[in-house]
Amino acid sequence: MYRLLFDLLFRRMDPERAHHLAFGWIRQVSRVPVLRRLVAAVLAPRLPQLRTEAFGLSLPGPFGLAAGFDKNAVAIDGMAMLGFGHVEIGTVTGQPQPGNPRQRLFRLVPDRALVNRMGFNNEGSAAVAARLAARNPVFPVTVGVNIGKTKVIPENEAAADYVTSAERLARHADYLVVNVSSPNTPGLRDLQAVGQLRPLLSAVREAADRSVPGRRVPLLVKIAPDLADEDVDAVADLAVELGLDGIIATNTTIARDGLGLATEASAIEAIGAGGLSGAPLRSRSLEVLRRLYARVGGRITLVGVGGIETADDAWERILAGATLVQGYSAFVYEGPCWARRIHRGLAARLAASPYATLADAVGADTRKAAV
Ligand SMILES: Cc1cc2nc3c(=O)[nH]c(=O)nc-3n(C[C@H](O)[C@H](O)[C@H](O)COP(=O)(O)O)c2cc1C
Repeated sequence: MYRLLFDLLFRRMDPERAHHLAFGWIRQVSRVPVLRRLVAAVLAPRLPQLRTEAFGLSLPGPFGLAAGFDKNAVAIDGMAMLGFGHVEIGTVTGQPQPGNPRQRLFRLVPDRALVNRMGFNNEGSAAVAARLAARNPVFPVTVGVNIGKTKVIPENEAAADYVTSAERLARHADYLVVNVSSPNTPGLRDLQAVGQLRPLLSAVREAADRSVPGRRVPLLVKIAPDLADEDVDAVADLAVELGLDGIIATNTTIARDGLGLATEASAIEAIGAGGLSGAPLRSRSLEVLRRLYARVGGRITLVGVGGIETADDAWERILAGATLVQGYSAFVYEGPCWARRIHRGLAARLAASPYATLADAVGADTRKAAV
């Protein structure tokens, strides 16, 4: 059914317009109590064996919506209604900004992939904080808040921009994510170097503690798949040193070669710069996750994202070391029942496995490989 809708409608539209159309429908349905209850009754995870504990939070299932889909926190209940166990909003920047000129989102349909150079188009931390403060949650979904740097802020003032966002947003966040890995803000990924990342993460930690005195808001960092292996290790060590709560691996990739892309090279070249996501990212994201788990074991919660399409992909990520898993691109290709399929499939994989709980399965493959 969704395939037909995709082929007949969305595929013929500009991808960003299609996104806003679908997003609008989700929001409309979620505003009608009887409809949203009906949809959530079918799609939301309720199986007790899927309940997941992560950095002190209890979630109804391990699979959530990755950052970038709901940048301004306008559809949290709509996404919860569709069965995502958590919703990561953002990236939100200190100041509002329009992002890059359009066209800035592209589909690689034969590859089930996307390329985007959105450039953190968002309403800014003050507006998003006001929206979150006024929110009257319908579904008790976990909300992650992902923050990034305002484009016009010079790199040597980046920490202050993140701190502004953290001070405004931390109190509304179940967890906070420092995004230093999007390829579409010049210089952003340089903040992943440990020398820059240490003071940045420390400043955001302090800002969160200052602005939310009664609660320690979990703090995570989101990294790129394009980091060299030694840099992945360095970020992992830093995360342990700073007592970070989690690492999200990974963001989109700037790579095009070596991904086995089926889309014609000329078409890919014509698209130009941007981060590639979806199925071709699967293997590198998995590799980064395995490396992180081998390095930090159970000391830090890992969130696996990048190229997850099926329950098998999500299960593989859990066995590799992820406590939570997220996705974005495959939602475009799979449609509204995607989160339900993943959660149901995970319950089936768990039942057929030697593990009593999802928590027991986390990292099992990576631990075996290390023996
Ligand atoms: C259109 C688009 C916009 C995105 N925007 C953000 C963003 O603002 N912040 C962020 O941390 N990640 C962003 N991402 C990256 C996703 O959160 C995710 O890490 C990446 O797409 C890999 O997952 P996937 O293969 O399931 O899409 C974006 C991805 C896409 C496709």
